[in-house]
Amino acid sequence: MVHLEINGHVTEVEPGTTILQAAQREHIEIPTMCYLEGVNQVGACRMCAVEVEGRPRLMTACETEATEGMVVRTNSARARHAREVLFELMMSDHPADCLHCARDGDCELQDLGRTLGVSTSRFAGKMSRSQVDDSSRAIVLDASKCILCRRCVSVCNEVQGVGALSVQNRGFHSQVGPGDLLLDQAACALCGQCTVVCPVDAIHEADGTRAVWQALADPSKTVVVQAAPAVRAALGEEFGLPAGTLVTGKMVSALRELGFDHVFDTNFAADLTIMEEGYELLGRLVAHFRGLGLVDDEQVAALGLADLPEPTLPMITSCSPGWIKYVEHFYPEHLAHLSSCKSPHMMLGALTKTWLAQRQGLDPHDVVTVSVMPCTAKKFEVGRPEMSRDGIPDVDAVLTTRELGRMLHQAGVDFTHLPDDEFDNPMGVSTGAADIFGTTGGVTEAALRTVYEVVTGRVLPYDAIQLTAIRGLERMKSATIRLEGVLPQWSFLEGVDVPIAVTSGLKGAAVLMDQIVAGDSPYLFIEVMGCPGGCISGGGQPRPTTDEIRRRRMAALYREDAGKPLRRSHTSPAIQQVYAEFLGSPDGHVSHELLHTRYTARRPV
Ligand code: FES
Repeated sequence: MVHLEINGHVTEVEPGTTILQAAQREHIEIPTMCYLEGVNQVGACRMCAVEVEGRPRLMTACETEATEGMVVRTNSARARHAREVLFELMMSDHPADCLHCARDGDCELQDLGRTLGVSTSRFAGKMSRSQVDDSSRAIVLDASKCILCRRCVSVCNEVQGVGALSVQNRGFHSQVGPGDLLLDQAACALCGQCTVVCPVDAIHEADGTRAVWQALADPSKTVVVQAAPAVRAALGEEFGLPAGTLVTGKMVSALRELGFDHVFDTNFAADLTIMEEGYELLGRLVAHFRGLGLVDDEQVAALGLADLPEPTLPMITSCSPGWIKYVEHFYPEHLAHLSSCKSPHMMLGALTKTWLAQRQGLDPHDVVTVSVMPCTAKKFEVGRPEMSRDGIPDVDAVLTTRELGRMLHQAGVDFTHLPDDEFDNPMGVSTGAADIFGTTGGVTEAALRTVYEVVTGRVLPYDAIQLTAIRGLERMKSATIRLEGVLPQWSFLEGVDVPIAVTSGLKGAAVLMDQIVAGDSPYLFIEVMGCPGGCISGGGQPRPTTDEIRRRRMAALYREDAGKPLRRSHTSPAIQQVYAEFLGSPDGHVSHELLHTRYTARRPV
C-alpha cells in the first residue's frame, strides 16, 4: 500500500492509484474537465492542478499516481488561481451564448464556472474555430463550442474502435473532426457515444424537435408516436428521478399531453422482430442442413417455411443502425451475415402506414410517424432510401430520449406528477421478451425463448443457465444451447448445439467479424448492439452514463419483463392478430415486402 496526505488527511491506497482517485476516496473534490473515468484520462485541460510538496510545478491529479509519503494540497491559493486562469482562457475561446445553447443548465463548463466562482473572462481575442458540420442527419459538430477535452476522440477510438474522430492541427488551430471530410462522408457509425461524453454542446444530435412540433400543430396530419424499450428506463432522469426508475405509464401520459394522436409501443414490433428474425434463423439452419443432405424438400415443405434463404451463418442481428452502418463501412463483403429484418421501430412505422392506415381509412401521406429512441443512428436510418415505399418513409422523425425530455420541459409538462396511462391498441401490446430488447443480451434471450419452443414444444426456463450467461455488462458473452427432445418435424436438429455470441459496443463486434473474415467463427447466431451495454446507454440517452447507471437501467428492463403476464413473443395476442389479419406467416411474402430490408456496401474512409 502507498501512504499519502491530502489536505491534512492521511490515507493509504493501492499502488497505481491517482491523486484524483485517492482524493475521491477521502471525499475531497478536485475540479476536472477533460477527465472521464474509464474513457478519457489524457490530461488535456490541466483543470485538476494540485500542489505536491517538493514538486516545483503544479501536478495534474487525474494523471499523477500517488507515491509513498506524498503530501498534496488541492485547495492552495496557487492551485485555485491556476484553475481560475485556465477556466478564463477556456472561456475566451468559447461563445458566451448560453441562453441560446441547448446545453444551458446541462453544461459541464457552466458547472465548472460555478464551482470555481468565475463567470467571465479577462482575456479577449480572436476565436480559433467557427465551423459547424451539419452534413449528417444524425449528429452535428459545432467546432466553435469545442473545448478540446478529447473525450469524443477517446470514446470513438478507444471504446468504440471506430476512429472517425481525431484532433487535427496543433496549438491554437487544433480542431476535432473527421479529418478533411464532412461527417456524412466519413466512416462514422453515428452511434452518438461522442454526444454522451461531450461536456458542452460541441457534439450533439441533429434537432428533431422542430419537425415534430410542426406536425403536431398541423390539423391535417395524424401524428403517431412510438417509444423504444430503453426510453422508459431512462426518461425519468431528465426530470431528476434516479437512474433505473421505470416511467412507462408516465411516458405514455406525457406523449398524450404533447398531442400525439396515437401512442404505440416499439415493444410490439420487438415481439414482431423476434418472430421474423427467429423464423429467418430457422430458415437459414434448415437451408444449411439441406445443403448437407440431412433434410429433403418434403421435410422442408412440411415445416411450412417460406422460400428458404441462403444458408449464411452465423446470422447476426440487425436492430442497431449504428452497428449496421459500421459493418457496411468496415466489412462490406460480409453483409449477407446480417439478418434482413428492419429494426423494430421501422417495422412499426411500416405497419402504421399500411395496416393502421387501412384499418382507419387514412391516407398514408397524411400520417406522420415519430419514434422516440435512445439512439442517434436511428436519425440516419429513417432517411435510408430502402426504408420507404412509393416515396413514403416508414418513419418520418426520430427524437432521442434527451429531445423528448426537452420537448416536455418546453411544453411545461409536470412529468413526475403525471398519472400512468396505457399504450393504444393493437400496437401497444407486448410481452416481457420485448422489454429486454433494450439491453445487451436481450434480443438473443428473447429469440431463444421463442425458437426453442417452436423446435421442442417446451418452454425454455426464464432462468436457464444459458440465458443468464448472456446477461450483464461484459463486452463479450457466449453460450451454447443444445436442442434435445425436438418435435418430430425438426428431427434433423436433434442433439444440435447452437453456439451464440453476444457483444455490445463496436470494438467487440470487430473481434467477432474478424473471426468470420478468417473463416473460423464458431457461432451460429451473434447479437451485436452498437453501444456499450446496448440501447440502455445509446447515444441519445440522458447524460451522464456510467456503468452503475447502465446496470440500473438494465435492471429496470428485467423488472419490467418479470412483471409481464406474457414473456414470450409468440404468445402475444397482438402478434397473433397482425399475422392473422395482415401479414400471413412469419418471414412470409408480405413480411418480406414490409419488414425486411437490404444493406449497402460503403467505403471504409
Ligand atoms: S481533468 Fe485532469 S487534466 Fe483535465
